[in-house]
Amino acid sequence: MESEIQWIDQRTFDLGGVRFHLDLSRERPGSSDQLVLMKDRALVESYQKLLDSTRVKRVVEMGIWGGGSTVFFERLLKPEKLLAIDRAVDRVRILDQYIERLQLQSVVSCHYGLWQEQTTRLTNTIEAEFGSGGIDLIVDDASHLLDQTRASFNCLFPRLTPGGLYIVEDWGWAHWAGHYQEGQWAEREPLTSLIFQVVMVVASFRQIISSVRVEPGFVAIERGPAAINPNGFDVARFCRTSGKTFSWVRAAETTETDVQERI
Ligand SMILES: C[S@@+](CC[C@H](N)C(=O)[O-])C[C@H]1O[C@@H](n2cnc3c(N)ncnc32)[C@H](O)[C@@H]1O
Repeated sequence: MESEIQWIDQRTFDLGGVRFHLDLSRERPGSSDQLVLMKDRALVESYQKLLDSTRVKRVVEMGIWGGGSTVFFERLLKPEKLLAIDRAVDRVRILDQYIERLQLQSVVSCHYGLWQEQTTRLTNTIEAEFGSGGIDLIVDDASHLLDQTRASFNCLFPRLTPGGLYIVEDWGWAHWAGHYQEGQWAEREPLTSLIFQVVMVVASFRQIISSVRVEPGFVAIERGPAAINPNGFDVARFCRTSGKTFSWVRAAETTETDVQERI
């Protein structure tokens, strides 16, 4: 079937008449023969298993990069509308060419120079593109930084339809080996802080967040049925903690040697 993924090798697949190449290095910008996707095979397969194309009609993607993921979500889900944003100012020419070739001008809308944390601009753009209707899927593969990710989460999560999914890719960078454990990355506050809060909301107010699925490559946060006022929504205010602090998070520090001894 045209909408099924056909693997050519571990890093190349065809979907909906488009060839995709997986490359995490940021070195290949894509070409007229194939689009580059900054994801690994496991992540592509997780998306394939998780997403139900019959119910996902309205999609927002943050983090366009080479445009491969934008076309991937369009080919996989065939949505009515897909809005993609990126802070980069320059349009991705290859993506524009694919949109034209596949005649997706009325479906895919790309906004450049728009930062995920610019919540007023983001809200105006969403309202202009989607009107007052809800969104079924939001994928955040943009900054991966805590404050920026939280800002767009608080802005956009209430706009999901009940049962809709908010996906944060690469949520676990603070726990990855190598350069994430030292220098600039080690000094940044982990994105995990937001994920912990989201998990607490599942226990505190399941009508706001009904489930959280955690995988190595993403978390998928499911919107509960409650009506939420999107103005001023702050996920942190829906965690019941009775004033507890979570010192066990610090206690769990480990070293590579510890890990090697344990697995
Ligand atoms: C990891 S790449 C996206 C990869 C792409 N989704 C894929 O799978 O091929 C991250 C992208 O997010 C953009 N970005 C980084 N910080 C951002 C921010 N604060 N707001 C919007 N976009 C941002 C970068 O310009 C870059 O294009």
